[in-house]
Amino acid sequence: MNNLKWTYGGLVVLLAMEPALASEAINLSAGNDGSATRIENDLDSWTAFAIVVTSLVTAWCMNAVSPKARSFGTILASLGCLAVAAWFFLFVLGTGILENPKPNQTPLDSAKPTLLWLQGIVALAAGLFLLLVGIRQSGEDKALELKTENEPERYGRISRLLHWSTAMLFIAMIPMGIFASIIPEGTDYRNAYYVVHKTIGVLVFVLLATRLIWNLGTRRPALAESLNPVERKLAHWVHVALYGFLFALPVTGFVMTSFHGYPTFFFIWELPPLWASSDTGTIAWGLFHKYLLPYVLYITLGAHILGALKHHYIDKHPQAIKRIVG
Ligand code: HEM
Repeated sequence: MNNLKWTYGGLVVLLAMEPALASEAINLSAGNDGSATRIENDLDSWTAFAIVVTSLVTAWCMNAVSPKARSFGTILASLGCLAVAAWFFLFVLGTGILENPKPNQTPLDSAKPTLLWLQGIVALAAGLFLLLVGIRQSGEDKALELKTENEPERYGRISRLLHWSTAMLFIAMIPMGIFASIIPEGTDYRNAYYVVHKTIGVLVFVLLATRLIWNLGTRRPALAESLNPVERKLAHWVHVALYGFLFALPVTGFVMTSFHGYPTFFFIWELPPLWASSDTGTIAWGLFHKYLLPYVLYITLGAHILGALKHHYIDKHPQAIKRIVG
């Protein structure tokens, strides 16, 4: 605990020692313009609602009884990835914001256009890959009989629904957060991004809480037998870390926003900041939400996804991935 305090304190001091950097960080973590700029007809809340419903429907279909519905679920997931790619290539690139981002950026922020490019390319590749998987699945005819709760060797229907909907929403938050943070002040859709980002962020937290409660009542299946001891250890710690991110990212986002004196949006509702604003608080929590957590997350999430793909395609254990999907 003490170590944690020192690490945390050290990071805050490090930023505070560099006044220019610190003031930029305060600017950056503003994150929204408040209620005055909510767009007409609650289009921002409807967008968040549509993303959430699509994720839930996709996650449900991916594990449906009927093979046709499962193939449809995979194609929906593919379309989701392709929509993110289309958003980046057709909209974001056309705004010119990558070349002229919001001023007062910290040195690390110069990596944001590259990060968005990488994420656009990964979304495109994942979309095409899932499209092929979905088309191949359409030829299958095996019904998927799943129990509601987990079984000793595979996850049940509720765990799968919670896993895939959380994963889709969580991953979508990353490019959305990065782009939101570089949209220049005064851009008419800027606040809409924060409404969608914060609403889904709060929902990810709710989904995590639901999952933890659900896990209390149902045993998690043991790790796949086919993993070697090192892979088992890695898989275990990557899972623990991912739960940590699901908790830490929404919480640090919320606390950073509150310290900056701005509300947290949840669809059409707004929760005002719960305490007095503070520059030090904004910088410290922003350091976690905007820098430390996202960069460590990229590595962990990459290890989780690449590990699953390696196990499936290189080690040729297709049963392992079927514990959680299909
Ligand atoms: C699943 C949960 C969440 C994830 C994965 C996530 C991820 C991110 C990422 C990657 C960024 C970009 C950081 C940067 O490059 O500067 C960001 C920015 C931001 N996030 Fe989140 N976030 C989450 C939840 C929240 C919540 C719940 C809130 C507030 C209630 C929030 C508020 C913000 C704000 C205000 C920014 C922009 C800061 C700026 O303008 O520079 N986030 N988020």
